Amino acid sequence: MGGSILEPMEKDVLILAIESSCDETAAAVVKNGREVLSNVIYTQIALHTQFGGVVPEIASRKHIEKINQVIEQALTEAKLTLQDITAIAVTYGPGLVGALLVGVAEAKAISFASGIPLVGVHHISGHISANYIEHAELEPPFVCLVASGGHSHLVVVKDYGEYEIIGRTRDDAAGEAFDKVARAIGLGYPGGPKIDQLAKEGNPDAISFPRAKVAENEYDFSFSGLKSAVLNYLNSCQMKGETVKTADVAASFQKAVIDVLVEHSLHAVKQFGFSKFAIAGGVASNSSLRKAFEQECARQGIRFYHPSPIYCTDNAAMIGVAGYYEYLAGVRHGYDLNAVPNLKL
Ligand code: KG4
Ligand code: ZN
Repeated sequence: MGGSILEPMEKDVLILAIESSCDETAAAVVKNGREVLSNVIYTQIALHTQFGGVVPEIASRKHIEKINQVIEQALTEAKLTLQDITAIAVTYGPGLVGALLVGVAEAKAISFASGIPLVGVHHISGHISANYIEHAELEPPFVCLVASGGHSHLVVVKDYGEYEIIGRTRDDAAGEAFDKVARAIGLGYPGGPKIDQLAKEGNPDAISFPRAKVAENEYDFSFSGLKSAVLNYLNSCQMKGETVKTADVAASFQKAVIDVLVEHSLHAVKQFGFSKFAIAGGVASNSSLRKAFEQECARQGIRFYHPSPIYCTDNAAMIGVAGYYEYLAGVRHGYDLNAVPNLKL
């Protein structure tokens, strides 16, 4: 009997992904790297707000409390059981060591008990890969701006899982600057979304804040001078007995951050000769930033990609996407996989 001319059906690759690097306990199931079957996020924000920022020890404890429930929910919503899963992807760095450890230990335990292969994923690779979820046509190479609470990186995405960092922040990350300025004007934690909202009522040209350039590398960022300028402005208003228009401060600060991010990013896209540009990370959910990139990219003939806000802030679906491409590349981790708080991209 001759062989069938039909190729055997490729089996679906189903990744169970776990993310616990900061203050979100998250699990997701991703099919064939691009289709999100479930995306469960338990956010601890309310818990940390009273302390004005993330308290690492509290974050770790809450992760332990929530992680099993979140994983079970992710499998249930995907209408799958562990037996259907091809590989388990988990964020193993960078992040808070105690928080990361919860996800890593959980993933190792499930892998050990079930025999399902384990794939460790870099958190930033996850953020970048969030762009693949809703843009089926997006493939490397492209330039990506990653702006989160801990990172402001300009990255050339050479291939899936292959990155070159061409610019980074010299001091504060963009999200960190949002959080610090928000605290200074009494908005509380997390500052990004609150400044985003308040800025809509303010005048972005009301106060002239600095746009820092870094002499040694045109793609690097620096936000600490801007943060100090805002604090100085608030102090001088207080000394003069003037009331501060917080909406104007929020809008003017936000514009200063966005101007620098847009200018450096699109300069890199042109200089490196790319036609595609993407954004990622919590700050990428900022509405004015998205508008600014949309307009500038359209003007310069660059195709602009951005994830929906839910895939910008920490989630496990993005880890499932990055984990899929690692899995395809043959990456498998052993039970000695450890949390690496300062993991390099
Ligand atoms: O990516 P992410 O969820 O966690 C990290 O990996 O750090 O980013 C969190 C950061 C916080 O600093 C938060 O203030 C900022 O992203 N963020 C925003 C917005 N939403 C979150 N910044 C500006 N505008 C927003 N809408
Ligand atoms: Zn993140």
